[in-house]
Amino acid sequence: METAAAYAEFAEVQAVNGGSPTYQDWARGVAADPETCALLDALPEPKRQPNLLFAAARLAGAPSGGWAGVGPWLLTAWPEVEREMRARATQTNEPRRCSTLLPTLAAIDGPIALIEVGASAGLCLYPDRYSYEYTSADGTRTRLDPADGPSDVLLPCAIEGPVPTRMPDIVWRAGLDLNPLDVRDPADVAWLEALVWPEHTDRVETLRAAVRVVAADPPDLVTGDLRVGLADLVADAPAEATVVVQNSAALYYLTPADLETFVATMDRLRRERGVVWLSNEGWTVLPDVAARLPDGLSPQFILARDGEPVALTDPHGRSVRLL
Ligand SMILES: C[S@@+](CC[C@H](N)C(=O)[O-])C[C@H]1O[C@@H](n2cnc3c(N)ncnc32)[C@H](O)[C@@H]1O
Repeated sequence: METAAAYAEFAEVQAVNGGSPTYQDWARGVAADPETCALLDALPEPKRQPNLLFAAARLAGAPSGGWAGVGPWLLTAWPEVEREMRARATQTNEPRRCSTLLPTLAAIDGPIALIEVGASAGLCLYPDRYSYEYTSADGTRTRLDPADGPSDVLLPCAIEGPVPTRMPDIVWRAGLDLNPLDVRDPADVAWLEALVWPEHTDRVETLRAAVRVVAADPPDLVTGDLRVGLADLVADAPAEATVVVQNSAALYYLTPADLETFVATMDRLRRERGVVWLSNEGWTVLPDVAARLPDGLSPQFILARDGEPVALTDPHGRSVRLL
């Protein structure tokens, strides 16, 4: 797709479902500005995406406010913005996704060895270290805390269906990512913050609190491709534990052929090692999963256990509807 058209489309998506009005304005501005589009067109295609440009611009000190001020600034600051865009990738790590994972994960008897593919900084590897406040459809609020007491990270989530009553028993955790981010590295944390859309200040607060929790006991994150590195990681898990492999907002980046390879790997690991696979992805990402949904549902993300849909989830973990 042409760069201007891609930004125009991004602007429209921002108009719905809690998107960012600031990014909508900026994306419209880029779409209407041939000079900025030409700069973007000089980058490799995967580096032209709006989320990458806007996060890099904010990291480089873009003025807050509308495109009228940001557009001229971007042209003068382009060398620095371009450097960030070439060096970084969109790796948004959203700990609130743990709220939508927890009901299904907690139903699995432990001990659990939790592996995340596409883990970014690993913030979703700690669902047992966060506190939750689930709000049911009738307005009832239910709180769930870690075994050692309330966490500094409190994740609010609307829920349809049974509220979880226990935490998962996680005894081992590890992640795999093409480019793991380090919660102890201020530059990586600054990048994680820049990836959160401007109006989503509550998400930044949650992110910072989760970074503190995870930095106190950093995860084992392996650099590698989820299509090839997973079996080795599963082999490292304690033999007595049930291995749970999870992915969220990570498979979107794979080609259909690569997705097929990954699904085949999961099938093999399930048969040979009894691995449980929890996948939380946009509804178009795994067509075989979407095809198993009951008629009439219009999900954004689908949480599936071993390929069977078990919940519809909000992409940023704000709500979960158990099926
Ligand atoms: C949008 S982030 C999501 C992070 C985390 N799962 C979450 O839900 O917060 C996607 C992550 O997947 C990683 N990724 C993409 N393709 C990958 C691949 N082929 N192998 C390993 N990691 C990959 C990216 O580097 C990025 O960190």
